[in-house]
Amino acid sequence: MKFTFYGHACFQIQTEESKLLFDPFLTGNENAAIMPDKVECDHLLISHAHADHFGDAVPIAERTGAKVIAIPEIIRSLPNAITNVKPMNIGGTYEGPFGQVTMVQAVHSSGIAGGVPVGFIILFNEGKTLYFGGDTGLFGDMKLYGDLYNIDYAVLPIGGKYTLDPEQALIAAKFLRAKTIIPIHYNTWDVIQQDPEKLKKAGEKEGIEVRIIQPGESMML
Ligand code: NI
Ligand code: MN
Repeated sequence: MKFTFYGHACFQIQTEESKLLFDPFLTGNENAAIMPDKVECDHLLISHAHADHFGDAVPIAERTGAKVIAIPEIIRSLPNAITNVKPMNIGGTYEGPFGQVTMVQAVHSSGIAGGVPVGFIILFNEGKTLYFGGDTGLFGDMKLYGDLYNIDYAVLPIGGKYTLDPEQALIAAKFLRAKTIIPIHYNTWDVIQQDPEKLKKAGEKEGIEVRIIQPGESMML
């Protein structure tokens, strides 16, 4: 599988069968590594409705026809012309050609009336399991996810201020029993400035790999 980081919290995972795009905030992010009229996906997953996550969801969904996976409040906010949708809520699972994705709790605000923020746990057919925390702080049920799933990759925000900071992200990875942290959601703006190398060093001491990726870069999972 190929993981491509487009900046902030936007990334694509390409499997044999599918291209999943997450939190497509591109317009307005000067570090964004692709334009919304170029990015490819057949599934579009949105963690919550804050502008730095929902972003270009509407034009991307309209152009690609990708299946939009999000809470019902977000789905209902989309133009009626977007019909390839999968509204679900925390606990819901969608089975796709790539594997299955379960919507899980995040501790944050939702950015839309009546909504909740979410994360996703994805079991890929190719054998890997990936947790995307969305925007979240630390919460104890991360330990539950660590019990229930064999998490290979934890894609975690580390910017602090609005989400986990690097120290908290390392605790989260321990709760999750994740083998690898992929840090995102930092250095987009001054208020979320962080040094991921410090997290990498701290992770090494705990036996947790930290894979630092820059906008526009890809890596194999
Ligand atoms: Ni947010
Ligand atoms: Mn955010």
